[in-house]
Amino acid sequence: MTVRIAQAGLGYWGKNLVRNFDELADLRRLVDASPEIREQFARRYPNAKVTASFDDLCDDPDIDAIVIATPVPTHYPLAKQALEAGKHVFVEKPPAMRAAEMAELVALAVERNLVLMPGHLLLYHPGVRMLKRLVDAGDLGDVLCVYGNRQNLGKIRKDENALWSLGVHDLSVILYLIGEQPSEAVAHGNAFLTPGVEDVVFCYLRFPSGKIAHMHLSWLDPHKMRKLTVVGAEKMAVFDDMELERKVTIYDKAPEQPAQTYGEWRTRTGDIFSPKIPNDEPLRLECRHFLDLVENGPGDHTEAFAGLEVVRALEQLQQSLWAAAS
Ligand SMILES: NC(=O)c1ccc[n+]([C@@H]2O[C@H](COP(=O)([O-])OP(=O)(O)OC[C@H]3O[C@@H](n4cnc5c(N)ncnc54)[C@H](O)[C@@H]3O)[C@@H](O)[C@H]2O)c1
Repeated sequence: MTVRIAQAGLGYWGKNLVRNFDELADLRRLVDASPEIREQFARRYPNAKVTASFDDLCDDPDIDAIVIATPVPTHYPLAKQALEAGKHVFVEKPPAMRAAEMAELVALAVERNLVLMPGHLLLYHPGVRMLKRLVDAGDLGDVLCVYGNRQNLGKIRKDENALWSLGVHDLSVILYLIGEQPSEAVAHGNAFLTPGVEDVVFCYLRFPSGKIAHMHLSWLDPHKMRKLTVVGAEKMAVFDDMELERKVTIYDKAPEQPAQTYGEWRTRTGDIFSPKIPNDEPLRLECRHFLDLVENGPGDHTEAFAGLEVVRALEQLQQSLWAAAS
């Protein structure tokens, strides 16, 4: 079966999704609010019908799945409309800005046995998959803490703050690696450029097992960083997406208490190793996974529930951010 796809939102990120779905599926319809963008895409994708109305996608019986890459505040109403029309949905992150809304989307998807997949791109990154294998195999020992750095100068957004725009990436990976929901979520930050839109945010998470995590999220920073560090009791690993070749580095470093030191801690420093990571485009793997789910069924809706956990944690962090500012 070739999945018949429609997409709404053809902007900065949407064009990458269109390219992939055009190559992997039967791209039938495109929608954008901007007439200039519609004109461009009509020229570039002559086989797709390009219109301005989202209703067109939902009403078309020859569409199996809808991809949503519009601005964040539109995600929840559009995803809801698409699910209610019986379409499978891929929705860019975050699918909703309130946990109650995300829970509603998940319930709809489960009730109708439809795919609801949030665009958690990093979960499809071969480097992140490698980290997950290391953690699950116990190669790092018990995971003690995880921290993410997602900083840059720009892209300065007005609809969503650094927590919702950048944090959703790290949070999806942190929850995936740790496999728990945080029992404590604290955020501090400030809106330096656009009133009400925090551009610098520091987050602290604590999990029921005692593991802790931190995220530094900012578009006001001299460094471009896309890095996640996992500190295990026996080894440590770093995923650095700015590295071309050494995306994952494993440090055989740890504290230890040899018998002869009578309870004193020492540190052990061993080899530093970078395993080969396949060069596959994460977005391509993500799109393929969505199409697999559409073709073979949503299973136990793992992706939708993971999206709900991420939105729940984001909401907790946002409430903490507001409480700290008031
Ligand atoms: N996964 C990633 O790495 C990644 C990276 C960047 C952006 N994103 C996500 O992609 C989404 C879009 O971000 P962007 O940077 O492409 O934004 P953008 O502003 O460049 O594009 C949004 C597009 O949606 C169109 N639009 C707005 N309202 C619409 C509606 N109701 N119906 C149809 N079209 C509508 C706009 O005309 C615009 O072309 C956001 O959710 C963002 O978080 C994801």
